[in-house]
Amino acid sequence: MSKSILEMHDIVFQPQTNKGAILKDLQIQLDAKKFYMLVGANGSGKSTILKMIQKHQTPTSGEIRFEKENIKNIKATTLAKDILYIAQRPEQQLCQAMTIAEQIKLYFHAFKLSPMNHDCLMEHLRSFHPYFVSAYHQAIAPLSGGQKQLLVMALGFLRKVKLLLLDEHTAALDPKAAEKIMEKTLEIIQKNQHCTLMVSHQEVHQRYVDSVLVLEDGKITPSG
Ligand SMILES: Nc1ncnc2c1ncn2[C@@H]1O[C@H](COP(=O)(O)OP(=O)(O)OP(=O)(O)O)[C@@H](O)[C@H]1O
Ligand SMILES: [Mg+2]
Repeated sequence: MSKSILEMHDIVFQPQTNKGAILKDLQIQLDAKKFYMLVGANGSGKSTILKMIQKHQTPTSGEIRFEKENIKNIKATTLAKDILYIAQRPEQQLCQAMTIAEQIKLYFHAFKLSPMNHDCLMEHLRSFHPYFVSAYHQAIAPLSGGQKQLLVMALGFLRKVKLLLLDEHTAALDPKAAEKIMEKTLEIIQKNQHCTLMVSHQEVHQRYVDSVLVLEDGKITPSG
């Protein structure tokens, strides 16, 4: 039997400002090493689910378990160490006025990562984009959208995570850059074998995943 990484039981989300519930008795189970794609119409609640998993949003009722433990009993900072979240817009996840070197230093500090040998760090950066090595002491702001998203990934994969959450992480990019990001994503998922939940509106992405979770009328229906 597969090991469950994340379970969402009987989740209801009914914000006070809304007339009806967005999520209605939603059930999800994500197993180790599996790649899931979450699809659903705009406003159906996909990003809300990703926020709940990280404790950035509290469900109205229901229970969320991470490796069988109720996340109510896990500190948000502890949970954050096991989860990597990549958003649509890399600008949200980078300090643009900083240099790549400064951003990396801040990331090591924020997650209390053990120091890394400089050559290994350069090799890690090069594997995401060779320019990150030559532009190491330059500001992040002038990088292209695709380069910024690759930098977000290079930072994120400095740590070992148990769950990768992708919220339309290729949607804001031009088709060529989006393809490059998707290729890198698949390479990492294959190498690291962590459980992944990817929100995407692109049907072509369905071919890469183990299971497609369809969010419709506040509930999940598995397909494929
Ligand atoms: N804290 C909140 N208070 C009030 N309404 C909220 C809150 N969080 C989410 N919503 C509402 O819940 C609905 C679902 O939003 P969400 O961003 O999860 O949708 P989505 O499926 O990710 O949409 P998209 O495909 O456009 O990204 C929206 O109508 C949103 O306004
Ligand atoms: Mg969304």
